[in-house]
Amino acid sequence: MKTNLQFQKMKQDNEKITMITAYDYPSALIAQQAEVDMILVGDSLGMVVLGYDSTVQVTVEDMIHHGKAVTRAATNTFVVVDMPFMSYHISIEESLRNARSIFQQTKAQALKIEGASDDVLSLTRKLTDAGIPVVSHIGLTPQSVHVLGGFKVQGKDKEAAEKLVKDAQALQAHGAMAIVLECVPKELAKIISERVQIPTIGIGAGLDCDGQVLVYHDILQYGVNRLPKFVKPYTDISTPIKKAIEMYVKEVKQDEFPTEKFSYTMNEEFLKDL
Ligand code: KIV
Ligand code: NA
Repeated sequence: MKTNLQFQKMKQDNEKITMITAYDYPSALIAQQAEVDMILVGDSLGMVVLGYDSTVQVTVEDMIHHGKAVTRAATNTFVVVDMPFMSYHISIEESLRNARSIFQQTKAQALKIEGASDDVLSLTRKLTDAGIPVVSHIGLTPQSVHVLGGFKVQGKDKEAAEKLVKDAQALQAHGAMAIVLECVPKELAKIISERVQIPTIGIGAGLDCDGQVLVYHDILQYGVNRLPKFVKPYTDISTPIKKAIEMYVKEVKQDEFPTEKFSYTMNEEFLKDL
């Protein structure tokens, strides 16, 4: 398993960091077999595998349930778990309690937290000091979608761009081990990546981040119906899955499955008195 320290070194060596989300045992197993550097149990699981409208409905319990399944499979991969909506805003005590629950119960290697408010900065410092590595997340922060007014590119004007540079530097100063940059212009992502020593991991943030992250189901087109501009679909796994299930349904309807090959038999001699 790669460590926090190795991720810092990968940035210095210009070696890209690869990250993908996973939400359950089989997805984590395959991600690990494909040798990704980091797995993210993102709160995107709310939309992707639970069918919620947004990440706002995701609970601490949801994150623990899915996080545990992922770490059972990804025994040799660095796993980051998202802290969900409002689990780190009510009070510092409650934030620390939630962080402890998620970190201890999932056995993850780090937690991810959206934003760079004063409260988030001091939480980042406290968690890091307590031994919980923090991955930050700025730019488009989906938990704040109702404040941001939709899923839009962030940091497009000078003022907003300067704010994001400052936020990234402040998060680094408060101990963050890496920063996810979501939906920011590629030029800005490049500047941020140059101005901080910790790795940036981009999603919709261009080629010049220190790493990239995408949602598992998006790159596979697995049960998703709309892909954002920044997602490259590497396959369309829904089509072969659907074909296989249609075949199964048809064969059952037509008494073609299960044949002898897939059935158990009984000794004739016991059968005659039955
Ligand atoms: O929840 C998630 O999947 C994420 C990534 C898209 C960065 O936060
Ligand atoms: Na997330």
